[in-house]
Amino acid sequence: MKNVIAIDGPGGAGKSTIAKLLAKKLNYLHLDTGAMYRAVTLAAINENIDFDDKEKLIKLAKKISITFNKNGEIILNDKNVSQEIRSSEVNAHVSKIAAVKGVRKVLVEKQQNLAQKNRVVMDGRDITTVVLPEAEHKFFLTASLAERAKRRYQEVKSKNNDADLEEIKKSIARRDKLDSEREHSPLKKAEDAVLIDTTELSIDEVLKKMISLIEGENH
Ligand code: CDP
Ligand code: CDP
Repeated sequence: MKNVIAIDGPGGAGKSTIAKLLAKKLNYLHLDTGAMYRAVTLAAINENIDFDDKEKLIKLAKKISITFNKNGEIILNDKNVSQEIRSSEVNAHVSKIAAVKGVRKVLVEKQQNLAQKNRVVMDGRDITTVVLPEAEHKFFLTASLAERAKRRYQEVKSKNNDADLEEIKKSIARRDKLDSEREHSPLKKAEDAVLIDTTELSIDEVLKKMISLIEGENH
């Protein structure tokens, strides 16, 4: 698939940050698929849906409208929820909802449609393996758990909010485990995806590395 870049990896690896910068540089659309699973989770919280009721969750995923505005921000039923989807309540439940096969089916179809109509940089957990296995360029970004937790901690601190590094680390580790061990579309590196460990790298270094690989592969 030409003009399609797929990026997977665990939380805090830098996927969204890098995908956004890459999309800007290449003039592609950035699609943060994690935001889509978060939007379904937020809708389930707002509608008081039991997180164990798979049928209701699937119905909900089909019913709601999830789109992106031109800044790449997520819109749930006409409302910009890009801040709300980052709440600790959404963090706590999103991996459970993302494990429901029928919910994934609804979102994967939307993601594949978007990639057919646009030049995209798409990031998530199953983009290189399930959503766009034929993407022109595939990357798996990762970093140590300690580094990923430190990055999230710094994000919260920079907004002048209280943060507990150990709590953040635990929450990320819990999601890593749920996402990697689930039955449907678990997080794993596609054999042909390029692995980049960003633990010791700056954002700029990661970006340069990826651009040189993309340009190299195109020549
Ligand atoms: O905040 P963080 O970058 O760690 O996560 P995210 O990319 O916003 O994704 C939130 C959650 O959605 C993940 O922990 C997964 O459970 C789920 N997800 C998924 O199952 N498949 C995707 N393609 C993207 C996200
Ligand atoms: O999407 P994902 O959960 O993989 O990560 P993110 O939401 O982009 O968050 C990564 C955080 O680490 C951001 O605050 C970045 O500024 C920072 N960071 C990075 O992305 N890459 C590095 N090489 C170093 C720091």
